[in-house]
Parts: sequence; structure tokens; C-alpha cells
Amino acid sequence: MKCVDDFRLKLGQHELVPIMVGGMGVDISTVSLALETARLGGIGHISDAMVPTVSDRRFNTKYVKNKLQQYKLNVANTDKSTVKFDLSLLAEATALHVRHAMDAKKGNGLIFVNCMEKLTMNAPKETLRVRMGAAMDAGIDGITLSAGLHLGTFALIEDHPRFRDVKLGIIVSSLRALQLFLKKVARTNRLPDYIIVEGPLAGGHLGFGMDWAKYDLATIFTEIRDWLVAEQLNIPLIPAGGIFTGSDAVAFMEMGAAAVQVATRFTVTNECGLPDNVKQEYYKASEEDIEVNTISPTGYPMRMLKGSPAIGDGIRPNCEAYGYLLDSSGNCQYIEAYNREVAAHPGAKKIRVWDKTCLCTQMRNFDCWTCGQYTYRLKDTSRRNADGSYQLLTAEHVFHDYQFSTDGKIALPA
Ligand SMILES: Cc1cc2nc3c(=O)[nH]c(=O)nc-3n(C[C@H](O)[C@H](O)[C@H](O)COP(=O)(O)O)c2cc1C
Repeated sequence: MKCVDDFRLKLGQHELVPIMVGGMGVDISTVSLALETARLGGIGHISDAMVPTVSDRRFNTKYVKNKLQQYKLNVANTDKSTVKFDLSLLAEATALHVRHAMDAKKGNGLIFVNCMEKLTMNAPKETLRVRMGAAMDAGIDGITLSAGLHLGTFALIEDHPRFRDVKLGIIVSSLRALQLFLKKVARTNRLPDYIIVEGPLAGGHLGFGMDWAKYDLATIFTEIRDWLVAEQLNIPLIPAGGIFTGSDAVAFMEMGAAAVQVATRFTVTNECGLPDNVKQEYYKASEEDIEVNTISPTGYPMRMLKGSPAIGDGIRPNCEAYGYLLDSSGNCQYIEAYNREVAAHPGAKKIRVWDKTCLCTQMRNFDCWTCGQYTYRLKDTSRRNADGSYQLLTAEHVFHDYQFSTDGKIALPA
């Protein structure tokens, strides 16, 4: 019976354990988690979501405070179009975050950064170019393009000296999305180095509509695999979403996957950035506690625990401090929803907003508990402590369980 360790992922000159731990913003897939994954010979992801905020927490910088100070006269204004990111500060924060990871890297694995296009930051192209450029300058091994439309993304960085050496990959959820992307990047004379095929059971934002349950990862994976073969395109394919055991991973490797991307099982590790009480919420969750809803102002459905404090919270938009989801005109769906509720409840001290959430604030505070569909199985991966709580795992334990387990088994901690 095969295990994941019988396979290797070849990426350029690198030979890796074919396990990629997916990016989880905001600072849920921490530098420590990525370092541990790389040390064990796989590929870890950090995320560049809200990196100035993450930098403030980790390195005591004052990016958020200073931005709020700069725009404080705008706080009560419903028009956020003037609230912009300073590109040089954004580059500085990104470089700090990435360098912190790359300087500490040990072992044969790699560290990539997850870069979401939907983080439009009131200047989509300029900020995305700066984020990727700064990450490459700081030595990142690879960039995974996610959440959004990346049709012009390669072109944004084609003049960067590392454009042809850094590993570049994309997450897609359909053959059609991949075909559109490949058509666009053909002009830059550079193909992606890997393609992640993310199915509907993943955590975070989904590349599906609210009819996500009609789709399944193996079917989409097979369709994309067969098309690539027919087009004679030899690009490593990496399925993601609901791969819960080493045996699930082996089944995909036997179907031609080059590696797997996993995330949910690592949310209950010491290295994961979620607060410990939130990790316990993930452990305790049953299937009925998990939903896919449309409260993300990005317009993409998102999976989360129904008990997330973000749901229904009516906090004032915090764009002067954050503003990561402002589109190119300075709009965000949450601002509209919030203003509508304020107008409907004149004089109310506290309002509730149910249809959208202030995702920046909620993710920053770990109050939007986004999760994969199989979060309800996490309780089967650990043991209970005397007080009823669940034992947190080490990332090494979970990584090795994926790498070596057979027969659908899950190793419990010692
Ligand atoms: C808590 C959490 C946060 C996530 N955040 C992101 C993100 O910021 N960007 C992204 O591209 N994918 C995100 N994902 C998706 C994962 O990177 C990964 O592709 C997917 O969850 C794999 O499926 P699994 O969780 O069933 O193993 C997130 C997943 C989880 C569980």
C-alpha cells in the first residue's frame, strides 16, 4: 500500500515531499507554519493579506496607526475613495514579512506567498505589483496567485529580474478559468510552474457560486488533467480542498497529481496563527456548525463556522486603518450594507449588518472563523485533555501523518 512519501514533486531543480500547506490569511498560515513545512521538505505558504497589520503585530511597526492618523478626518465620511495605501510603505511591510521567513528557512523545502487579487486596496494593479515585487526582492521562493481574476498579473511583474526564476502558480476551480489565464499569460512567454485545482470543500473564499455542492474536486481535476495532456502542457497539477488523510492524497497522486495542497488539518497546530480558543472552536465543530455564506464583501462565497462573531456584526467600516477590500473606485460592499442599516435605524447606538461583514476588521481580529468543510473531522485527529479541551498538534505531526499514513488512518498524538 502506497503512502505520500513514495512520491516526489519536481519543481525545477527541487525535489520535494509532495505536500503543500495552503496560504491562510490573515496570518493564519504563519511564518512558523511555513518554516516548519519547508524544514520537513514540503512547500509552506505565508500570506500577504493585510501585511502591514501583520507586521505591526509581529515587528512592532506602526503602519496601521499611521495610516489611520493620516486619514482620520475621513473616518465619518462615507466616501472612501481618497483612502490610499502608500506604495513604498506597503513594499517595506511586505519585505519585512517575507525576509523574516526566508532568513530563517532551513531544510530542503520551499516557502511561497499566497497573493489574493481580491485584495484590491483602492489601486488594484499598483498594489498587486508592489506586493509581488517586494516579495521577490525579499527572496520568496514562489508566488501563488489566488482569489480573484489574475488575467493581467504576470504582465504586472514581467519586467522584474526574478520573473523567470521565481516559481509562479495559480489556483483555479475550473478548466475554463485556467484556459482564460493561460491564454492571457501566453503573451509573457512564461507558463505557470504549477496549477492548484481547488475544489468546493476548501476553506477561505470559494471559486464557485452558492451551488458549490454540485461540484467535486476529482471531476474538475480529471477534466483539467486530460486537457493539459491533450494540449501537451506538462505543468504540475496540485489538487486542494477536502484532502484529509494521506490516503486521500495518495488517491490523487495515483490519478496524476504532482502534489496536494492541504490546510484545514493544520489549523489546530501550535504553529497556526489562530488564537487557542478559536482552535478549540474548530475542534468542537460538528458538520451542522459549518456554512458557506455570502457575507464576504469580495462577492465570493466563503466557508466559515456559523458561530463566527463576524456574522451579523455591525462595526463601523475601518477603511482608514485597513481598506484592503476597497475597489478601484474606493467602494466596498460592506460600506454600502453598513450605510443602509445606519439609515434604516436612525439614532441606534448599535446596529447589526447581516448580509455583509467588515472582513478586514473581522479577519484582523480572528473573528471570522473561515474553515474547510472537513473541520468537523478535526476532533478525530487529536485527544482530549482532562478539562475536555482538545490537545493541539505540532505541524510536524500533521505533516508526517499526511506523508506516511496508509489505509485511511490518522495518527493520534502521543
Ligand atoms: C482557515 C483557512 C484560511 C484560508 N485562507 C486562504 C487564503 O487567504 N487564500 C487562499 O488562497 N486560500 C485560503 N484557504 C484555502 C487553503 O489554502 C487550501 O487551498 C484549502 O483550504 C485546502 O483544503 P483543506 O482545507 O480541506 O485541506 C484557507 C483555508 C483555511 C482552512
